[in-house]
Amino acid sequence: MLLQGRNLIQPEDFSIKEIDEILSLAQNIIDDPSKYSRICEGKVLATLFYEPSTRTRLSFEAAMCRLGGKIVGFSEPSSSSVSKGESLGDTIRTVACYSDAIVMRHPVAGSAAEAAQYSDVPFINAGDGGNQHPTQTLTDLLTIKSLKGSLENHTIGICGDLKNGRTVHSLVKAMARYQNTKFVFISPEELQMPDYIKEAIKGHEYHETNNLDDVIDSLDVLYMTRVQRERFEDQEEYERLKDCYILNATKMNNAKKDMLVMHPLPRVNEIDVDVDSDERAVYFKQAKYGMFARMSLIMKLLGVGTQRNEIEERKCINA
Ligand code: NCD
Repeated sequence: MLLQGRNLIQPEDFSIKEIDEILSLAQNIIDDPSKYSRICEGKVLATLFYEPSTRTRLSFEAAMCRLGGKIVGFSEPSSSSVSKGESLGDTIRTVACYSDAIVMRHPVAGSAAEAAQYSDVPFINAGDGGNQHPTQTLTDLLTIKSLKGSLENHTIGICGDLKNGRTVHSLVKAMARYQNTKFVFISPEELQMPDYIKEAIKGHEYHETNNLDDVIDSLDVLYMTRVQRERFEDQEEYERLKDCYILNATKMNNAKKDMLVMHPLPRVNEIDVDVDSDERAVYFKQAKYGMFARMSLIMKLLGVGTQRNEIEERKCINA
């Protein structure tokens, strides 16, 4: 099926083959970004952020700028008609009149699927509450594929707030589709991976522990996450759990020489800055891969650059 015109609410919305196409195009963009710098000329991307964001919003906006398109939207719902009581459905219907695709982040789990029903342009979920974050997953897959050479045969440790972290819910569901992926879920008991995610990867090998030191030497990728303060009802519980894992250079001594340390960012305390200079720490590279993954996704959903000629033509205009 063509990706043009589709929505992305959760990773399973796209087949492995389609994800592969997105990752391949992202790689082509990385190899020669100038070839794509005007491919979205005349197109408008709307970014509606009802929740704070640095990387996701700016990387979408940078992605569209680097494709030659334009951006409209808000980073603060208080500056939109939402503050006058407008419904989500009405906002989406209106924004779809002005744009060629919509990116939305919202604090309510399930809001992306609901909002997408009102959009007649491609709709991209940029995080809905503690539920899913599929474009972070495209970022993560591109990072692993580029730096490890393949998405198969990896043991992935996922550490931190596995209950509330939407990035890891999407990542686990996506990685479970690749051959011989093994998961190690590392969290305190209160923040374990939800049952619905474990159910979704049934048949796959996974192991749960609360001790990072015990398992770090077995991992090919260690995906750290922050404890999600904004999702806690009980702030005392947050205070008690917030520093449950702190990765540092001493702990890294026990890890494989080629283990990747990933993190969707923002980091709070869970990775000590003394890890930043370790070449296995790839979280800032990962942020950069995110922009390329999003450039590719925008192109695919808008259906631009599907013809080789189109890219060649634009390249000539550019020259
Ligand atoms: C994540 C998010 O918003 O879920 N950030 C991001 O998009 N890179 C992770 C987080 O906030 O902890």
